[in-house]
Amino acid sequence: MELIRGLLILVCFALALLLQCSSNVEGRYHHHKKQKDKSSPVSPSPVSHPAPAHEKPVPSSPSNPKDSIFDVRKFGAVGDGSADDTAAFRAAWKAACAVESGVVLAPSDYSFKITSTIFSGPCKPGLVFQLDGVLMPPDGPDTWPKADSHSQWLVFYRLDDMTFTGQGTIEGNGQKWWDLPCKPHRGPNGSTAKGSCDSPALIRFFMSSNLVVSGLKIQNSPQFHMKFDGCEGVLIEKISISSPKLSPNTDGIHLGNTKSVGIYNSMITNGDDCISIGPGCANVDIEGVTCGPSHGISIGSLGVHNSEACVSNITVRNAIIRESDNGLRIKTWQGGSGSVSGISFENIQMENVRNCINIDQYYCLSKECRNQTSAVYVTGVTYRNIKGTYDVRTTPIHFACSDTVACTDIVMADVELLPYEGQLLDDPFCWNAYGTQETLTIPPINCLHDGQPQKAVEASAYDCNS
Ligand SMILES: *[C@@H]1O[C@H](CO)[C@@H](O)[C@H](O)[C@H]1NC(C)=O
Ligand SMILES: *[C@@H]1O[C@H](CO)[C@@H](O)[C@H](O)[C@H]1NC(C)=O
Ligand SMILES: *[C@@H]1O[C@H](CO)[C@@H](O)[C@H](O)[C@H]1NC(C)=O
Repeated sequence: MELIRGLLILVCFALALLLQCSSNVEGRYHHHKKQKDKSSPVSPSPVSHPAPAHEKPVPSSPSNPKDSIFDVRKFGAVGDGSADDTAAFRAAWKAACAVESGVVLAPSDYSFKITSTIFSGPCKPGLVFQLDGVLMPPDGPDTWPKADSHSQWLVFYRLDDMTFTGQGTIEGNGQKWWDLPCKPHRGPNGSTAKGSCDSPALIRFFMSSNLVVSGLKIQNSPQFHMKFDGCEGVLIEKISISSPKLSPNTDGIHLGNTKSVGIYNSMITNGDDCISIGPGCANVDIEGVTCGPSHGISIGSLGVHNSEACVSNITVRNAIIRESDNGLRIKTWQGGSGSVSGISFENIQMENVRNCINIDQYYCLSKECRNQTSAVYVTGVTYRNIKGTYDVRTTPIHFACSDTVACTDIVMADVELLPYEGQLLDDPFCWNAYGTQETLTIPPINCLHDGQPQKAVEASAYDCNS
């Protein structure tokens, strides 16, 4: 019996996945094409237009749309910036979740405060969380309820076909977390105090599919601003993320085990990676993103603790990276397995960036990592039309590939990087890196080997399809 039921569930799941996948791709192109004619001011009344930022179709006829709007104030939210509105948000969510195309509305001109909350599904399709006001967590660790998770604040879990949108702001109140003495160099005399230093990620999507996040302003996160784990079908559009340059660990958008993602037309300034792409991600399309100050766009780190990591088919186009510690980086630990393949960086403008182009297969936080024979295989990485200026403290091009597993099929075309100020001190660096230069780069790179390594990379250890 159990087995048959299990099989049935599996078949249903597979079918559902198939249907969702195709509709999601459609949805993405639809959004993408539409973006030009969306500069017109959106209707200020959420009642007549519940999801202005991304034009999600709202059912017009079957029932009065008003029936599907759940204003958190009707559930007791005060929105004065100090009252605890958690219960009201939970109740509004529960009500909206139960109807098709339900809308949780947090209206403008109010400032809502809620504690760490998991908004979970499954819900009826088409659910919209519309934030037009301000939404924030308690201010710092001292006011964080002891029993609450210290690693996450807003969590969206087990949802399908859900949108988080609005003209509002998510204010993370991160300052007191950044100042904890356990953060890097925040202890007495610039030391780093020992012990666990958990700080909440602001928004986390977990085990969900067909998500849209659009229009929102997200700022001052205690830790990562937005992260996706185990999701499939994600469209992020026209959001802005901002935190100070020196706020520790405040990655903008982090993806892990997440597939079919579009990130478009967004601005990110923060104190860590602008966008980071972890193990298990594939089919990620990034376009029209401006990063900086930040730590750039990063694939990795991958292969920590000898783990297998697979990342494939990642495209970054028409992006600007400015005032950043890194530009386009792939980082892996010694001793991993799996591969990074099919990566394309195209039309990227750099402004005063350190390590503009960087593959680092010796990534290590403690300086105590030993070299190992296995590695995450890096292959098929294209840098096309990468132009602008770099910070001369480091070479703008650095390929440090594994000793035993060479990087292969690196393509360089129209790479022209000039010093922002001063003179280049170190030449471009490569170690065990193979590929082609379609055009000569500036600065010239003489260390990239032509063709393939003599000892072919043994496919089996790096096969991500098994
Ligand atoms: C910090 O440094 C100052 C001057 O070097 C010293 O007097 C003081 O004891 C140090 N404080 C701590 C907590 O280490
Ligand atoms: C690569 O990803 C894009 C989305 O970014 C997708 O449209 C395309 O089909 C993917 N290609 C392959 C070979 O999976
Ligand atoms: C690891 O290998 C690299 C490349 O051969 C070498 O430069 C580095 O010194 C090695 N590190 C250690 C800790 O052996």
